[in-house]
Amino acid sequence: MKVLVVGSGGREHAVIRKLAENREITKLYCAPGNGGISVQAENVDIKATDVEGMVAFAKNEGIDFAVVTPDDPLVLGMADAMEEAGIPAFGPSKKAAQIEGSKVFSKNLMKKYGIPTARYEVFEDPAKVIAYIEEQNSFPAVIKADGLALGKGVVIAQNLEEAKDAVRSIMEDKIFGKSGNKVVVEEFLTGKEVSVLAFTDSHTVVPMVSSMDHKRAYDNDEGPNTGGMGTISPSPYYTAEIADRCMKEIFLPTVEAMKAEGCPFKGCLYFGLILTADGPKVIEYNCRFGDPETQVVLPRLKTDLFTIMRAVRDEKLSDLTIEWDDGAAACVVLASGGYPKKYESGFAIEGLDETGSHEGVTVYHAGTKKQNGAFVTAGGRVLGITGQGKNLAEALEKAYAAVKEITFPKVHYRTDIGKK
Ligand code: AMP
Ligand code: GLY
Repeated sequence: MKVLVVGSGGREHAVIRKLAENREITKLYCAPGNGGISVQAENVDIKATDVEGMVAFAKNEGIDFAVVTPDDPLVLGMADAMEEAGIPAFGPSKKAAQIEGSKVFSKNLMKKYGIPTARYEVFEDPAKVIAYIEEQNSFPAVIKADGLALGKGVVIAQNLEEAKDAVRSIMEDKIFGKSGNKVVVEEFLTGKEVSVLAFTDSHTVVPMVSSMDHKRAYDNDEGPNTGGMGTISPSPYYTAEIADRCMKEIFLPTVEAMKAEGCPFKGCLYFGLILTADGPKVIEYNCRFGDPETQVVLPRLKTDLFTIMRAVRDEKLSDLTIEWDDGAAACVVLASGGYPKKYESGFAIEGLDETGSHEGVTVYHAGTKKQNGAFVTAGGRVLGITGQGKNLAEALEKAYAAVKEITFPKVHYRTDIGKK
């Protein structure tokens, strides 16, 4: 079978490496892919958001199954477009992807179905947002752009000035375009954050092992928010008791709510949770695998990923038993110095063999390309180095040992992944 994976990051590399274990798959394609991905798959030069181009390629090439991994093409309806063209696809429909594509949609869904989340109000008029925040006079104030904003649509304002700045840039300067037509202002919650990805075919929901992201650029959770600087799995804070509660209060109700709203969700549903004193609450939903959560979750998957993806698509997930390695995994992201702001690219990466690997760990490529047979940096997040072990300490030790040996000019990484 020929399988096409849409996307180009470390998450896509993790999906591809897992799919490459399946014997029925004779050829893997990735569009647009990256340097490291080209070892397992053929890169295809089509932008992830080019729905028409992607479907045309899939039809011409006789693709048997498509995996739509990133948020933007899902929100644009790429999974539906593949299915309409007769190509089975893993990934939610455009309607179901609203759960990530619109904060207003997801907050209203949670309110309507009693799913625990932060209290909130929705606004379309910037003056009303400011008036509301002034009247509440409770800081930090959490302001969220309604639509997709490259993971930068959330502002935690420490005072009224910061709140005004955020509202101005989101709603008036439209730094995220139409995504800022509406905003959600919500209650600030405190607690440990946990990510739980779940496979669901809209009838059955199977949570994967938990994980924990490190979103800030620098050690001790300082500096600007990034796409994620490292992850561990499992989260030590996510106990069996909390997992039970999440299943009953959050996971099942969400999947049922989506069905009841006429947009059944099929694919990977990402629950961004916060464990508050009042119990677990939803911070956000994503309609896809997380990055770099996937780089610690999928290496622990023992069941064949392609079998699961097909069962999700065919709504037969209840037929499967999904098994996990009971150890731990840790991923340290090597980024270009300056990321998430300005950075340089094109530096040679040392410490990788010709397949882009390094012994003892799994190296996921995010922003790399192959130049004259060698790997060079080509993005903000460059590599994700995943170590696995019996426990978290062992996984971290392996990952950091490799981090010492893999390097490029101006590399930046956090030295405290998993320390908390
Ligand atoms: P999001 O893009 O929705 O994941 O938000 C980015 C980050 O902002 C989250 O991972 C949290 O750390 C933080 N955040 C979002 N909403 C809240 C909230 N209501 N209370 C506290 N922190 C929040
Ligand atoms: N790591 C957070 C995300 O994928 O949205």
